[in-house]
Amino acid sequence: MAGPGRERWSSKSGFVLAAVGSAVGLGNMWRFSYLAAENGGAAFVILYVVLTLAVGLPVLLAEMAIGRGAQHAPVRALAHFGGDAWKPLGMIFVAAGFVILSYYGVIAGWTLRYAWIVLSNGFTTEIADRFGDISEGWDAFAFHVGFMVVTIIIVGHGVKAGIERASVLLMPLLFTIVVGLAIYAATLDGAGAGYDYYLSADFSKLWHPQVLQDAAGQAFFSLSLGMGAMLTYASYLDRDQNLPNESVVIAGADVGIAFVAGLVVFPLIFALGLSDKVSGSTVGALFITLPQAFAEMGGVGRVVGLLFFFALIVGALTSAMSLLEVVVSSAIDRFGWSRVQAAWLCGGAITVLGSFAAFDIRVLDVSDQFANNILLLGGGFALCLFVGWAMPDPESEVRAGAGNVPWLPVWRNLLRFVVPVFLGYVLVQAVPDTLIAIADLFSGS
Ligand code: TRP
Repeated sequence: MAGPGRERWSSKSGFVLAAVGSAVGLGNMWRFSYLAAENGGAAFVILYVVLTLAVGLPVLLAEMAIGRGAQHAPVRALAHFGGDAWKPLGMIFVAAGFVILSYYGVIAGWTLRYAWIVLSNGFTTEIADRFGDISEGWDAFAFHVGFMVVTIIIVGHGVKAGIERASVLLMPLLFTIVVGLAIYAATLDGAGAGYDYYLSADFSKLWHPQVLQDAAGQAFFSLSLGMGAMLTYASYLDRDQNLPNESVVIAGADVGIAFVAGLVVFPLIFALGLSDKVSGSTVGALFITLPQAFAEMGGVGRVVGLLFFFALIVGALTSAMSLLEVVVSSAIDRFGWSRVQAAWLCGGAITVLGSFAAFDIRVLDVSDQFANNILLLGGGFALCLFVGWAMPDPESEVRAGAGNVPWLPVWRNLLRFVVPVFLGYVLVQAVPDTLIAIADLFSGS
């Protein structure tokens, strides 16, 4: 129900920090840096910024307009503006929340485990050999469970007392740490080589369809788009908020933190001469090479390593909260459960589902591909069609609280034509590859 019963953010900044918390996460600090390094450095960064502005931002504003207008979680929100025919899309969103959080929780568990190692005895240089034990098996599962329990407890406390309070407390800390680490990293010998590797522009790479696909998937994942997370957060807003301004702040913070995280990761790796170890594995940059760098730095490495993994945990936690909130608020809408009940039941089910990723890293990898390439891009595509063609008057939803924004017709036309054509193109490329990866997983090859 919209109306007196629905929870509310206590302030405008509370919503913005929670939304930035959702956006800034493992995607920024883990995935972005290796994607940029592998795919043309500064050229990739530029492509990514362009896609965030031209594709991410319109979809972000679309999700916020639907959520705030409908005052409901995704399934009912889509039905509110588009009729029951759109309910299945909302259900796909909820399913996407299940899938993504199930493996996201496992990776977050690795970060907890690393923080634990630094605290207990510091990293040793054999850490790389231990990555296998940390990332797969009972250890991975146990830390995944630990992470999920914290997420469940926070979401169980509600929008204001749980999600908002945690975000307001933790996000400023995350910004401070990441910026502080970037400044520290700049002082290291070899930082220059790190910047070169990260940012030297190779525009020739941009023309591979795979790079476009990676950049588009990353833009959606990093902004938490395509499965109703921002929609759900916006459903706790009043109509006096300026959605266009807020969407720009959220997207700016997200891109900013991703960029600065790269300024931390690469100087550290290059200062310690570990550059040959970055390439190859997708997880390499962060979970293998960095701990090794911290180990070689001795005492300083313990402090820097702890701060780094703490920032990662904070990012992962505030992102996981939004993933769980989509599922929990939908369950409350649908079944009338109490919030605490919904948080434990849904969070518990997701934790169990995560055991597949925790015990087999190939499942994690394929789930990530499936989520990004099919669920999020497909969800974004469908959202564009919804707001572009089915929703009666999305412009007026945005105008409430923002006044007359001159570029609203441009926004609507982006959602009608440009973004869906682009996403359709990317999907046509991405879907077959992803299906092949899934088939390979099941055939055990
Ligand atoms: N944006 C987060 C990150 O970059 C992950 C995330 C949170 C997410 N909520 C989401 C991704 C919803 C997709 C959809 O780590």
